[in-house]
Amino acid sequence: MLAETPVLFFDSGLGGLSVLQPALALMPQMPVVYACDFAGLPYGEKSEAEVGTRVSALLGRLVERVRPRLAVIACNTASTIALGHVRAALDTPFVGTVPAIKPAAMASVSRTIGVLGTNATVRQPYIDQLIADHAGDCRVLRHGAGALVGAAEGKLRGTGVEMDVLQDALLALRAQPDGQQIDAIVLACTHFPLLRPELDDAARAVFGRDMRFFDGGAGIARRIAHLCAGQQWPVDAPDRRLIINGDAGQLGTAWQSFAAWGFASVDRL
Ligand code: DGL
Repeated sequence: MLAETPVLFFDSGLGGLSVLQPALALMPQMPVVYACDFAGLPYGEKSEAEVGTRVSALLGRLVERVRPRLAVIACNTASTIALGHVRAALDTPFVGTVPAIKPAAMASVSRTIGVLGTNATVRQPYIDQLIADHAGDCRVLRHGAGALVGAAEGKLRGTGVEMDVLQDALLALRAQPDGQQIDAIVLACTHFPLLRPELDDAARAVFGRDMRFFDGGAGIARRIAHLCAGQQWPVDAPDRRLIINGDAGQLGTAWQSFAAWGFASVDRL
């Protein structure tokens, strides 16, 4: 394993930044290829078959091209649907994104938690299993909040955030039976933590109090660190680049976030 061998991060769009950020905080010398599928965004509105086929094909091409030491599917929708397929098909070790239902259930006093994800994620049997395993004594209220994906992309690309969309998502949780009791909300889409300050404000407006939000970013970072333990990182500035399936012009001001982390180039897949 060469020190320069990168870790591959993959998402439909910019949501993977909420996973990349804690990973770089823990492993600042990590060489990275961040790949996103702007041409396929949003995954949350696609069928399981479409997401599964698309993600498996793209990851196959990316692994072939990048030859990463490890690949991170920094997308709940892609992970809950396709992680099993890609692990079976490819030799590279894969880390997926698991909705943070366990820590939210551990923290909830009212035993009522909310789960916000994409439409595709909230209907996955994988979520039922996580609830059965870790939140069996909780009321778990779900809502497919795909509009938040667009809001997060808009915020990072510099085209603005519609606050109404955030409040609508939280209202849809509160309106369910016992919804007012929710004291912990799982952000089960990697795009949503990118809206954290706006969600804090929207939660105060909708619930009339502070809300606790949970996401998987820090846990995934620890998992990557564990899997890379004992491996070398470069001594000098690590190589970091973006690969985009689709129109790189859609990055807008998001490029500045990548440049600040030492990303030097953007290539097309
Ligand atoms: N970031 C992705 C996730 O975590 C979804 C965004 C999309 O709908 O493409 O689920």
